Amino acid sequence: MTGIERTAFGVYVHWPFCLSKCPYCDFNSHVRHVAIDEARFARAFAREIETTAARVPGRTVTSIFLGGGTPSLMQPQTVGAILDAIGRHWRVAGDAEVTLEANPTSVEATRFAGYRTAGVNRVSLGVQALDDASLQELGRLHSAREALDAVAVARRAFDRYSFDLIYARPEQTPDMWAGELELAIREAAEHLSLYQLTIEEGTPFFGLHAAGKLKTPDESVARALYDVTQEVCARHGLPAYEISNHARKGAECRHNLVYWRGEEYAGIGPGAHGRLDINSVRHATATEKRPEAWLMRVEANGHGIVSDDGLSREEHADEFLLMGLRLSEGIDPLRYATLAGRPLDPHRIALLREEGAIVVDPDGRVRVTSAGFPVLDAVVADLAA
Ligand SMILES: C[S@@+](CC[C@H](N)C(=O)[O-])C[C@H]1O[C@@H](n2cnc3c(N)ncnc32)[C@H](O)[C@@H]1O
Ligand code: SF4
Repeated sequence: MTGIERTAFGVYVHWPFCLSKCPYCDFNSHVRHVAIDEARFARAFAREIETTAARVPGRTVTSIFLGGGTPSLMQPQTVGAILDAIGRHWRVAGDAEVTLEANPTSVEATRFAGYRTAGVNRVSLGVQALDDASLQELGRLHSAREALDAVAVARRAFDRYSFDLIYARPEQTPDMWAGELELAIREAAEHLSLYQLTIEEGTPFFGLHAAGKLKTPDESVARALYDVTQEVCARHGLPAYEISNHARKGAECRHNLVYWRGEEYAGIGPGAHGRLDINSVRHATATEKRPEAWLMRVEANGHGIVSDDGLSREEHADEFLLMGLRLSEGIDPLRYATLAGRPLDPHRIALLREEGAIVVDPDGRVRVTSAGFPVLDAVVADLAA
């Protein structure tokens, strides 16, 4: 035991392939013009799961997340083989949340029933926008109609589903976004992820933006879009439980809560990150990003890990703060003190409270306020100093 209260254990599995590369995306995703040998990848996933489970045995898996890339390009039997391997090497809780990230095309929707049979019980659809001009601009391969049809298939196949939208898109106004959100909320039963468009270095959008050919909303419009997001979602019963994530009460994504609450999780597959507690030390692991290089490493060594850093108490505590303050529920300062070996600085807490950036609940939890969220990085830096 590590002394850390262990209530959840997540397994993240990364499928690194996409049909095409979206111009804004800097995730570890790759396009291949030859067929992917899924059976070979499935064997490598199973092998890496076995090796990881030997390092952190005896855990009960409470959530699994198949992310990407585009996991909905996998055949259902590949997903089944991965889930079976997880079940062979760890105990999986009877009510474990098993999410698969899907792109909302008609072809992918035809596989949803197969995923459900394989053991998936939740899908997260990358809808991104509900108007065709924006979808085209984002380089997406689906139309708004096709996305909504895929949402309808997801609704029939799964009790739980969510979808992603990107806002603060070029030319987007708060009024347009409010209308789009209202439609999204009608279609989303319980959960929505709403991401502000980030211009990531190294992507085609970065070059276009730098050249002045892609104009994103300025700071004040971006702030108005953020405020509209909070207001419309809260009004419809989907308040933010994390900066970019909205859910009805009880419908939060349990897997993502594992990250934000600083729990333990295994990272499986190319470019996956993990956080494992071994001999009372939190380890930050990362695997080889390039899919074929990862495959060869796993076949040779049983795992694709290229970095495995034991975190100092301070580093672990800072990460706990950084992740936990993204949540509307905030953090338990006693847990911070246990991890860091010292409490949060009461003077800094007092100052941030005076500024209205944080509140301290009667039970002691420290939470960022709606005024503090837009400047979260500064708040965290201040508290961690
Ligand atoms: C790793 S992607 C995988 C989802 C799936 N492949 C898809 O595109 O539908 C997860 C989500 O991150 C979001 N995302 C990716 N790049 C982004 C960016 N530059 N700015 C904001 N959101 C982004 C998108 O909403 C996307 O659905
Ligand atoms: S946004 Fe999704 S589909 Fe597009 S490149 Fe990134 S991971 Fe692939």
